[in-house]
Amino acid sequence: MTVSSGQTYLAIPGPSVIPEEVLRSMHRSAPNIYEGELIEITESLIPDLNYVARSSGYVAMYIANGHGIWEAALSNAVSAGDHILVLATGRFAHGWAEMARKMGVSVDILDFGKNRAVDVQVLNEKLNSEPKSKYKAILMTHVDTATSVKNDIASVRKTLDEIECPALLAVDCIASLACDRFEMDHWGVDIMVAACQKGLMVPPGIGFVFFNNRAKERQKNLTKVSAYWDWEPRVNPNLYYEYFCGTAPTHHIYGLRTALDMIKAEKIEETWQRHEILSRAIWAAMDRWSLVGDISLNIENPSDRSHAVTSIRLGGENGTRLRQWLQTKSGLTIGISLGMSEPGDPDGDGFVRFGHMGHVNTQMIMALLGAVETGFKAIGYNHGNGALEAASEILSSI
Ligand SMILES: Cc1ncc(COP(=O)(O)O)c(C=O)c1O
Repeated sequence: MTVSSGQTYLAIPGPSVIPEEVLRSMHRSAPNIYEGELIEITESLIPDLNYVARSSGYVAMYIANGHGIWEAALSNAVSAGDHILVLATGRFAHGWAEMARKMGVSVDILDFGKNRAVDVQVLNEKLNSEPKSKYKAILMTHVDTATSVKNDIASVRKTLDEIECPALLAVDCIASLACDRFEMDHWGVDIMVAACQKGLMVPPGIGFVFFNNRAKERQKNLTKVSAYWDWEPRVNPNLYYEYFCGTAPTHHIYGLRTALDMIKAEKIEETWQRHEILSRAIWAAMDRWSLVGDISLNIENPSDRSHAVTSIRLGGENGTRLRQWLQTKSGLTIGISLGMSEPGDPDGDGFVRFGHMGHVNTQMIMALLGAVETGFKAIGYNHGNGALEAASEILSSI
């Protein structure tokens, strides 16, 4: 029997569940793009995006997914021939690095592996072994969606300041924005990239580059910046079309307006707190499941774990078997393993990821855990007992 009825649940780490309110606000006739409310609504997004990012700087919007927004940020920060340093803690920093290479940028990578956060001592040693002004920018992810590690951005900034490293600090918050605490101003981040399809709860289509005055001034030193990616007209438009360098993503703007209203109504601190509690419930369940058998969280140290995504090792082919059972028999879709093994490596079937970003609440997480435990039984996977009880103890204390 396959499940063909009932509410399905997409618990992959993005795109995330879209709230009905967001969908309803997008379900409307086409607005005028030359005058009227769309222009006002677009302008109103800027302060609210800054509210979510804890930024007092600028935000340029693009019709783009995460890959596009990586290129947007690089196009405004570096030129071909410049050197950058990438701090890799999973698949996505490597992706950003590949993009930079293709733009002719010379990339050094400090790779911290697939299950730990950036070690600032190692960063310190690396930077001290190079000429002080070698790197134009240092790139890293706040949360890597493949490994589910969360990096301590403030400690990276502290390290850069201590050794007076002039590089711009550029951070990918595509997975973490509006899920994990992020403080653009306070943590001294110069450039931050994000997209609308995860914590911001909107279908994929708009990406953002947040930047501060330091990054804005540096951009002026570049000999050329692509007309399309140039952030300047987008943050300082004379005409409406310059916000998106062409036709605006009309319906996404309505959806994003609604999603930001929802976050503001909840308050960003409480949005972070909700994600934290839901994550703690998942970890509590994992603590019980892992009392027996092979199952383990990819990230051991709780303070290095994301509150948006959880990467779990089941071993063997159990990840794929579990996912397939859930997909066909329960209506739940969980995330595939990403970048945790080389192609053909048997470990590739041994990981799964739970997405718990954006529009998620207690009953959804309990359903996720309950369905996963049911899946364990169905595929005959050995695991410890009491997981749902442990999760409900956390969630009942809210
Ligand atoms: C941290 C991070 N960076 C970049 C990307 C790439 O985004 P996209 O798939 O929208 O191009 C993703 C996608 O999951 C991501 O999680």
